[in-house]
Amino acid sequence: MMRLPALPKPFQAASIWALYALGLLPAVWTFYLGATGQLVGNPVKIFEHLLGDWALRFLILTLLISPIRDLFGVNWVRYRRALGLLAFYYVAMHFLAYMILDKRLAIDVIVEDIFKRWFITIGMAGFILLIPLALTSNRWSIRKLGSGWVALHRLIYPIAAAGALHYCLSVKVIGPEQLIYAGLVAALVGWRLVRPRYLAGKRKARQMLGGLGGQTPQTE
Ligand code: HEM
Repeated sequence: MMRLPALPKPFQAASIWALYALGLLPAVWTFYLGATGQLVGNPVKIFEHLLGDWALRFLILTLLISPIRDLFGVNWVRYRRALGLLAFYYVAMHFLAYMILDKRLAIDVIVEDIFKRWFITIGMAGFILLIPLALTSNRWSIRKLGSGWVALHRLIYPIAAAGALHYCLSVKVIGPEQLIYAGLVAALVGWRLVRPRYLAGKRKARQMLGGLGGQTPQTE
């Protein structure tokens, strides 16, 4: 199985900060273009959509860490918290752009949207569920919550599913982009369901090889 050499310790922390900086770049750059009148068309919609797109991308990247380790032996677990938090920051910015720039804080319109437009209701549910995950993404919460922390953070799967569904329902006609994102989320949720069986099979195979003295069986 392929194993990437680990980065030296000082570079590990730096690479996580670099990921935060790189991850926030699309939002900062597009905001700058919008604020300086360089976005062609409807700048508010472009910005709002970009934030939604990156929110979904970071949710998918967060979910990809575990299958990449299981299937290819590449351990990028140290980046998972940053990816999950970037997803949260993008959803929060997407929500703020919708409330402030799009709806100009017209609370009655926003409340009506949340309760009457299905795709917004689903997006809102995803956002609300993401808040406890963001708040408990720290060592103290992991220690305090114990096994409850793992159960809580499994919510990332329904959250990603809500995000993909919200995206599909936000358009009049579902096109290739929506299908790709929905397909990726479906595959990752599917992987989560078959993962315990896959890992048990892998463990069994390793034990059998161990029983053979670590030798791979020879074919005649
Ligand atoms: C997990 C949470 C969420 C995710 C992953 C998400 C993602 C997305 C995506 C990918 C789009 C389509 C962007 C495009 O067309 O390129 C979108 C559109 C949109 N989202 Fe969200 N969203 C979430 C939560 C929310 C919330 C909480 C609200 C507001 C309460 C919201 C309001 C909207 C609106 C108004 C649109 C644009 C509809 C339009 O005018 O075309 N979203 N979102």
